[in-house]
Formats: sequence, structure tokens, C-alpha cells
Amino acid sequence: MKGGKIGESGGLTFWLASPGDYDDVMAISDGIYEGNDYLPHRYHSWMTEPYRVVILAKRDGKLVGLASGLIVDGGSTVFLEGMRVCSREQGRGFAGVIQRFTDQYIRQLYPNVRMKRLVRGEDPRPEKLAKFSLLAKRAILSLQIEAKAFHAFLSTLRAKLEHETGTGSLEQESRLVVLEEEQLRHILLDPGVSSQIELPGHMIIQDWQPLKLVESNFEVLRRRNLTWLADSLEQPTFLSLHTPPYPIPYKGGSFRFSIDLFGTKADLACRALLAHMEMVRGAPQLFQDPQTGGTCC
Ligand SMILES: CC(C)(COP(=O)(O)OP(=O)(O)OC[C@H]1O[C@@H](n2cnc3c(N)ncnc32)[C@H](O)[C@@H]1OP(=O)(O)O)[C@@H](O)C(=O)NCCC(=O)NCCS
Repeated sequence: MKGGKIGESGGLTFWLASPGDYDDVMAISDGIYEGNDYLPHRYHSWMTEPYRVVILAKRDGKLVGLASGLIVDGGSTVFLEGMRVCSREQGRGFAGVIQRFTDQYIRQLYPNVRMKRLVRGEDPRPEKLAKFSLLAKRAILSLQIEAKAFHAFLSTLRAKLEHETGTGSLEQESRLVVLEEEQLRHILLDPGVSSQIELPGHMIIQDWQPLKLVESNFEVLRRRNLTWLADSLEQPTFLSLHTPPYPIPYKGGSFRFSIDLFGTKADLACRALLAHMEMVRGAPQLFQDPQTGGTCC
């Protein structure tokens, strides 16, 4: 992505972000999401990601905010994310100015976009809901743990699950299969899968990002290096996935990974949660950096 001025509105000038803006973007991102910000890690890949627009807003030459949109669903939808306004300029309505400019710029660049999707961590106000239809609500469980305590935590969790299932061994129960790429494609593009798994809004919501089950979104998911589990290769009723661990600023330097679970069977969800965390436990980066304070998932 090559930077350049693309417009102005409401006292701000707008620019396409470039790799050289990284330090300025990090400087306005300090403390965002209480250290759980993904942007320090993703910024450079956003610069080259297909169908991604990253817009910077400046006032008097200084960076004020950032917004980003990813075109999904075969070009018909923009998913907005990454929105931020530097702390010294918050509360002055700049987020609204930036969003309106971003909407208009993306519509101009991608005239087939008909839908805008947002995800919020809290319940939107009724005025906001009047303009949007609610796709789905998801429960989020956040776990923070020191890397050195992770192994013991998983052993305790495994013992607890084995005790509760009464089998003595989780492996003897119905297995969860790690999906190869073609197996995943087959599952996600099967027209019946959404009702079998009872997907929220008939979509995969991957780490806050809702995606319809269409070929082009399969490509979006494919480039994220995700690990997927299902309870069956044919007609699954449960699906789950995890991201690789990636660095975040939390506690001066930590790793984060996300797990998404889909389906209605609680026993499978428990097993999958444990299986995903056990797979991540083997990731070398979790234990190599002496500054690593914690792991968040
Ligand atoms: C959320 C944030 C971008 C709001 O910026 P702001 O300029 O202080 O917001 P203001 O209250 O002055 O402006 C209100 C406008 O921002 C919009 N806004 C409020 N919360 C928002 C949010 N979470 N995401 C996007 N826009 C938001 C409002 O809809 C309103 O728009 P309007 O003027 O069209 O009515 C800013 O507080 C921030 O950077 N927070 C840290 C990062 C963050 O939480 N980002 C949200 C990601 S979903």
C-alpha cells in the first residue's frame, strides 16, 4: 500500500497508510484495548492484504486517527475494524468524521459494496441499532495466564474434564478431527453446514470478523494460518478454530491467540477448548522470549 493524500473533511486530512507510518500509528495506539491490541502485529500485513483499505486522519500534519475496511463476501460487504483516535483528540467527534470519510471512500473505490459490518464489545445504543440489523451476539471468555503456568493449567483442565466425562480418557470419546485445507473447504462451502452447526447469522465469526460462507471468504480465512477442528468430516455439528499466537503489548510484551467455537454441544466445546490450547502450548514462541509475561486467549 502506497501512502498519499485522498481527501479532507471536518478539519482533518485523509491519507492512505503506508509501511513508513508504522511508528506514528503505534504512537497513537498506546494503551488501546488494555494492551490487547492486534495492530502492532498486523499493521504490516494489512499494508499488502488484498481488498484492505487503511486510512489515516491527520490534523495540522499530525496523526489523529486510523480506520480500516476489509472487503469481504465477494465484494458486497465492507467490514470495518482498527478504528482509533489518539487520546489527546478523543471526545471531539473525530471518530464520526473518520468513519463517514472511510465509508464514502470505500464506496467510491468498491462500488459493489452494499453492506457495512461492525462488531462492538458492548451493547450498541438503540439509535445505533435502528440503523443496523443485529447479526449475532457472542459470549467472550478472556483468559490471561503466565506462560510458565500454562502447562500446569492445561494438565488440571484435562484432569477435570476426564473426571467429569467419567471415561478416564478423553481420547476414547468421540474424536475431534484437525481439518486439512480441502476438508475445510468442503465443509464450509456445503450449503447445509450453517444449519447443522447453527452458525450465528449463518456466518463464521473469526476473531470478531463475520464472514459469509462463500469461496472468496474461504481465501480470506486461508491466509490466516488457522487450525480448525470438527466433530466429523461429513455433516459436522461442531466446528472450532484457533489463531497462531501473536505478540501484543500487554504487560510489556505478551502473546495472544483466539479460539472460536461453533455448535451447541457443550461437551464438544470443552474438548475443543482443551485441544486448541494443547496445540498452542507446543508453539515455540510462547516460551522463547524471556520478556514474555503472559499469554492471553
Ligand atoms: C472509540 C474511539 C475511536 C472514539 O473516538 P472519539 O473521536 O473519541 O469519539 P467521539 O465520542 O468524539 O465521537 C463520537 C463518534 O464516534 C463514534 N464512535 C463511538 N464509539 C465508536 C467505536 N467504538 N467505533 C467507531 N466509532 C465510534 C460515534 O458513533 C460518534 O459518531 P457520530 O459523530 O457520527 O455520532 C476512541 O475512543 C478510541 O480510539 N478508543 C480506543 C480504541 C477503540 O476502542 N476503538 C474501537 C474499536 S470498535
